[in-house]
Amino acid sequence: MNNLITFMLITVMCFSSKRTSGCNLVEFQNQLEPPRSVKVNCTSNKKETISVQEIKFNGKYNFPVRERGSGDRIVWHCYLRDGNHFIDIWRAYRGASRKRCNQIRAYIVKSDAVRLVRNNEPTKQSFVWMLAQLSSIRN
Ligand SMILES: *[C@@H]1O[C@H](CO)[C@@H](O)[C@H](O)[C@H]1NC(C)=O
Repeated sequence: MNNLITFMLITVMCFSSKRTSGCNLVEFQNQLEPPRSVKVNCTSNKKETISVQEIKFNGKYNFPVRERGSGDRIVWHCYLRDGNHFIDIWRAYRGASRKRCNQIRAYIVKSDAVRLVRNNEPTKQSFVWMLAQLSSIRN
């Protein structure tokens, strides 16, 4: 009996935390040359934010995304920075009209470009680094 209650409690907890935090993923993998790190921060159209994360060479960072369905599609915008270069990925994640789970958008960060891998399938989509204006470079 006790085991059953524990099992049910854990199931409910997992389910509810998944529901609030999201069952999809946006991931960044730093494959620049060592020892370069990349910085990333993101904002959604629902005013959720991911503060600046520094990803070390060969490291990864990911965060969960919850879809909301039609009329309320989630869109995440991410900003990457490597020294004085940057990339704005305006639709790093875009929700579908039907709520989905298990969607993964992985961005492979390399020195020539950032490539999108969608649900473990490489895509042709890539993003090129832009040179920042000197006046806008901050630490
Ligand atoms: C990233 O952070 C910078 C500095 O805090 C901010 O100006 C910018 O709007 C942020 N961008 C995104 C996509 O969150």
